[in-house]
Amino acid sequence: MDKLLIKGGYRLSGEIRISGSKNGALPILLASMLIPEEVTLSGIPDLKDIQTTLRLLELFGCEASRSKDRVTVKAGESLVPEAPYDLVRTMRASVLCLGPLLSRLGEAKVAMPGGCAIGNRPVDMHLRGLEKMGANIDLESGYIHARCNRLQGAHITLDFPTVGGTENLLMAAVLAQGETTLENAAREPEIQDLANFLNQCGAKISGHGTGSIKITGVDNLGASDYTIMPDRIEAGTYIAAAALTKGDLVLKRSPVPYMENILEKLHSLGVDIEITGNDQIRVKQSSPLYCIDVTTQPYPGFPTDMQAQVMTLMCVASGSGMIQETIFENRFMHAHELMRLGANITLSGETAFVRGVDKLVGAPVMASDLRASASLVLAGLIAEGETEIRRIYHLDRGYERMEEKLSQVGANISRTQEE
Ligand code: UD1
Repeated sequence: MDKLLIKGGYRLSGEIRISGSKNGALPILLASMLIPEEVTLSGIPDLKDIQTTLRLLELFGCEASRSKDRVTVKAGESLVPEAPYDLVRTMRASVLCLGPLLSRLGEAKVAMPGGCAIGNRPVDMHLRGLEKMGANIDLESGYIHARCNRLQGAHITLDFPTVGGTENLLMAAVLAQGETTLENAAREPEIQDLANFLNQCGAKISGHGTGSIKITGVDNLGASDYTIMPDRIEAGTYIAAAALTKGDLVLKRSPVPYMENILEKLHSLGVDIEITGNDQIRVKQSSPLYCIDVTTQPYPGFPTDMQAQVMTLMCVASGSGMIQETIFENRFMHAHELMRLGANITLSGETAFVRGVDKLVGAPVMASDLRASASLVLAGLIAEGETEIRRIYHLDRGYERMEEKLSQVGANISRTQEE
């Protein structure tokens, strides 16, 4: 297993190019199963989760190949409807194959994603929505087994704007008979990206980006060439890195229009952000950082995927602040590791109280999930001495070449094998 070694105290300066969005690419890759002809997708980041998705597509019978950031998928006419446990357990987003498989084949057998480190994360809303569209669903031997004739359009109101649930139902509805409306739908930019891709292939989707999405089913979809949006969480993470190291970073290919929620909060914390172009952000940090109160919310609120990184910023900011995590239970595991580096954090249920300290001091720490790993890397960049981060396979699921990107702008960071 690999680990990261970081020597803190180096100021970051230079340019970083933001990769394509992981959470945008995953559903779009799976949605390409809806199209028998070849689909070409650009801006696909090279990540563990993407490799898992390509492996899944191959198991379903698709031809998938990659050249740099470009992936072509040809689903063809005969697909196999089963997603095995060994793959699904490594990536919860595998459950997003339910909608496309059911829609194309009238059958899907997908291992239950089960629990995971950051909460229970059930898929009940995905299943209720599919049932409303006419699917029969059985839970047997750890598998979700769904069957249907052609799916029927339905009026579905979600209890909560679930991102994955909205995506699954959207993908199920594009080839269904008649009209589907999704109320209380998630509004995340990655859902807009999925809908834009499907519309480019001939789907009839409107209202994406609002809480009410309307999908008029069509008989088939056609080939397309599409570029995935850049990753707003990766951009947010490097903004935090620049601010913490009092650096001067230019982030190229940032999805600025979709980052208002992140940029506003970071600005309130004292981060010196300048928008220098349509897709370019510069952080030249000279102001002091202040603790603030942050509550995670569905988009357009502050994203849970930036919560851990903001916690690191607050660890070394003036004053004290409160972070409330409302999306996932048990998503504060990084707090215990940050405390090992000297942070002053008190946890109480879904709330973390952070009191800024003068400095963090390097120590061995353990990554527990993807964004937790990012918060530890950020802490390592400023901690005195050396920080050793273990279990970085979490990081490799979601950040493309992170240590390379950080080294190129001046960080002292290297990857070695754990003994
Ligand atoms: C997606 C993102 C993840 C992000 C999250 C919230 C991908 C691949 N992952 O995850 O990075 O942190 O959105 O922005 O895009 N829930 C239920 N029943 C359901 C579905 C969800 O109770 O049927 C609960 C979950 O347990 C969780 C909350 O709803 O507490 C949010 O989940 P959801 O929005 O579905 O997140 P994901 O799609 O898993």
